[in-house]
Amino acid sequence: MSGTGRRPDPTTTARANRSWWDLNADDYQHEHGEFLRDVGFVWGPEGLDEADVHLLGEVRGRRVLEVGCGAGQCARWLRARGAEAVGVDLSYRQLQHARRLDDTSGIAVPVAGADAGRLPFRDGVFDVVCSAFGALPFVGDVVAVLREVARVLRPGGLWVFSTTHPVRWAFPDDPGRDGLVARLSYFDRTPYVETDESGRTTYVEHHRTVGDWIRALHTTGFTVTNLVEPEWPAGLEQTWGGWSPLRGRHIPGTAIFSCVRRPEQPERPTQS
Ligand SMILES: C[S@@+](CC[C@H](N)C(=O)[O-])C[C@H]1O[C@@H](n2cnc3c(N)ncnc32)[C@H](O)[C@@H]1O
Repeated sequence: MSGTGRRPDPTTTARANRSWWDLNADDYQHEHGEFLRDVGFVWGPEGLDEADVHLLGEVRGRRVLEVGCGAGQCARWLRARGAEAVGVDLSYRQLQHARRLDDTSGIAVPVAGADAGRLPFRDGVFDVVCSAFGALPFVGDVVAVLREVARVLRPGGLWVFSTTHPVRWAFPDDPGRDGLVARLSYFDRTPYVETDESGRTTYVEHHRTVGDWIRALHTTGFTVTNLVEPEWPAGLEQTWGGWSPLRGRHIPGTAIFSCVRRPEQPERPTQS
């Protein structure tokens, strides 16, 4: 059930999504594990590979946090490159998959079960924080999460994350031709909500426009240095949910924000 018009609070959102990811982690890893690779860092369904684009720069010796790490494929790739990478995720089941991949790959990623809005680390301990579709599309209070990321990053540290491209919001999440017709308003921030038969919220995704992201990042102490919109590569036929070669030729699916933490204290957030 969707389109309920509900606006769950951040706590309800986190509770629902923790349960959803615990229930669906096995299917997610089964369906996407080969594409993600046990030790690999792709930024999204277009397969943009950190080994090719170097959005995080040289990572050897860097202290790196992966937010919403799932089974930790990205953090594991970073460790293989010499980074001191660790991960956090809300879902216990996803982190059990991280343990499984530690065993099969021989590269162990230290992970913690935590909400991105309450990171269990001291101030300024990371050089880099990254996230590949982890947490950011799912959180109700994105400013609280960005404040946490700013807090644990040292001044001048990098924050690079991918999320669903905001333009996608206007289109049905359909990999076929129906997914090419804008049916919703890009400007409507009503979250996507699924409920069970008793009316309980079971899954939530939140929409922010490009402007919302820029304002949220600015007010939490970041300078945006790049916005990467990966094109669908020739030869990639694999679909991922609503991401497909057909839609990928016409509209962007992924937005990757590259940011630097400014040295000064973050400003108070503004409403618009
Ligand atoms: C689409 S998966 C991406 C996982 C991994 N980065 C990958 O590429 O496979 C999203 C992940 O974000 C996690 N997540 C969702 N909400 C979160 C939150 N509030 N705090 C931390 N992690 C969260 C989920 O448990 C899930 O593992």
